[in-house]
Amino acid sequence: MFVWSKLSAAQWIDAWEERFAGNPNLVIEYVKGGRSVRLTLFCESEKAALAIKEQFGGSIRKLNREEWNKPVEAPRPLKVRDVFLLTAETQTKALTALQKANPTRQLISIPPEMAFGTGDHATTSTCLRLLVDIARERKGTRWTVADLGTGTGVLAIAAHKLDSGPIYACDFDPFAVKVAIQNTQRNATPDIDVREQDVLKWKPRKTGYDVVMANLFSTVLIEAWPVIAKSLAPKGDLLVSGILASQAWDVFKAAASHGLGFTKVIRKGKWITARGGHFNDLTPPA
Ligand SMILES: C[S@@+](CC[C@H](N)C(=O)[O-])C[C@H]1O[C@@H](n2cnc3c(N)ncnc32)[C@H](O)[C@@H]1O
Repeated sequence: MFVWSKLSAAQWIDAWEERFAGNPNLVIEYVKGGRSVRLTLFCESEKAALAIKEQFGGSIRKLNREEWNKPVEAPRPLKVRDVFLLTAETQTKALTALQKANPTRQLISIPPEMAFGTGDHATTSTCLRLLVDIARERKGTRWTVADLGTGTGVLAIAAHKLDSGPIYACDFDPFAVKVAIQNTQRNATPDIDVREQDVLKWKPRKTGYDVVMANLFSTVLIEAWPVIAKSLAPKGDLLVSGILASQAWDVFKAAASHGLGFTKVIRKGKWITARGGHFNDLTPPA
């Protein structure tokens, strides 16, 4: 494991985020009172780290496994609508205390690991909110779910706690799959079917899924629209995120060419999250 790092003026943060869009292993921290940012990119091989250094300058160093797995800063508990409380806590005592302090909320415990999806990112938290809305509309039905690019498994776990039917979750990163399986066990949702699978090579079952979630970055979404369209059951709800505002037009245009459209689009910072479905099924949200 190698890490590439570089200091940059904070004014270039948008450019760096766009340059590395699609790479979940980039960490950007403000330093020097917000005037600069430190970019840290975790790479699987020295060759990959050297290629980045060659292109963008900066420095690289070797990282041992313990350091790689070391928790990054824990996210604060995140409240989602009046339903969830996401926490980094894993200890029974702390979780019991949290549950006591928040008796009406369901806890989701996601410790900070190197997999994406602790809830502190705008894309995850917006997906969670829209998922709560979808679950309310589908209450009492047995809605099936596919979570494409599951990361920590957070969206799949939330769907389970919202009384969905069977859930399929996948990620092409074996480490994310391992983390997601641990999290499904930790959150008493072990029947979520978590698979190592590249969405772009996925063959969804013929009946499709009632709710398809894909927090996947623009470039992947554009390539994945044909398979996403196939995986969405008639009258299904599609929830997508990971789209940089500057790329939204291209992403939605590509979706339209596969019969998919969006009736609710939410911008949080630079990130767009959208809810939609097959064109034939779309009705404006209430
Ligand atoms: C932005 S994270 C989303 C994680 C989580 N679903 C959430 O909402 O917080 C994107 C995830 O998709 C995975 N991913 C990216 N491209 C993929 C692909 N082609 N097939 C499967 N997983 C992919 C990444 O490994 C990463 O875990």
